[in-house]
Amino acid sequence: MITKRLQIQLEKIFVLAVLTIFPFSVHAQFSYDLQGHRGSRGLMPENTIPAMIKALDLGVTTLEMDLAITKDGKVILSHEPFMNPVICLTPEGEEIARDDHSFNIYQMTYEEVLAFDCGSKVHPGFPQQVKFFATKPLLCDVFEVAEKYAKDMGLPSPRYNIEIKSSPEGDGVYHPGIAEFSDIVVKLISNSIGWERVNIQSFDFRVLKYIHETYPEVPLAMLVENAANYQEDLEDLGFVPEFYSPYFLALNQEIVEILHQKGMKVVPWTVNTKEQMEKLLDMGVYGIITDYPNLAPKR
Ligand code: G3P
Ligand code: CA
Repeated sequence: MITKRLQIQLEKIFVLAVLTIFPFSVHAQFSYDLQGHRGSRGLMPENTIPAMIKALDLGVTTLEMDLAITKDGKVILSHEPFMNPVICLTPEGEEIARDDHSFNIYQMTYEEVLAFDCGSKVHPGFPQQVKFFATKPLLCDVFEVAEKYAKDMGLPSPRYNIEIKSSPEGDGVYHPGIAEFSDIVVKLISNSIGWERVNIQSFDFRVLKYIHETYPEVPLAMLVENAANYQEDLEDLGFVPEFYSPYFLALNQEIVEILHQKGMKVVPWTVNTKEQMEKLLDMGVYGIITDYPNLAPKR
């Protein structure tokens, strides 16, 4: 039986091995904000340290990631507040049933979270992902590794686009209430990396409103599904955030211009072909969030 500590060591060794075998560092400079979605989900298991390192190697300027909170109050990277059956295996290495959301991260200690492997299973949507044992990392460890890696490799210091994943139904069940969730995250970032290269993003306007009122120094991105509803969404939010981040499909030149006039930077997600990226860059967007930073146009 491999101990958890050994598993983590193996994961670190894997990262070093991958970086040694594939010295793909292009270190490209982009004139726009190239954001690696969940690190580089198209190429590495999502929201893991290897996904962040790969993204840095491909020249991303911002690392995009999602947060969850454990029972013992640790801030970790995870898109879902539970072990997603699509990407995770149980501590015994077994599959999780398709609709089973019972492995609730908010009801587990971080020690317990570390026993789950969310990197070995082949992701049907991202077959190019390199497969290996991978755990959900602590946000503080992601900062430490990414900052050190960028420095050691002579790369620009990355930005971080950090999503608080919450919903009214999840309050107290899958995550703390939004004030507590936001307080934990803001405190961690204020006490570590600071806000010069970090923004918080959320689909949950309660989070954005709370942070805007309580921590006005924190840069915010509003996440929305449909750019066509920008007017109602901005009215609902009640203030103009620094970033407007919509699903890319409904975005057009006219909306981009209106959003610019209102003073926002437009950063659509999740743009996974070169053609789509070119089209959006031609509209004048500030940045692109992609699972495939390797496809990003050099301009
Ligand atoms: O940051 C935008 C994007 O990450 C939002 O979608 O579901 O991948 O978190 P999702
Ligand atoms: Ca996200």
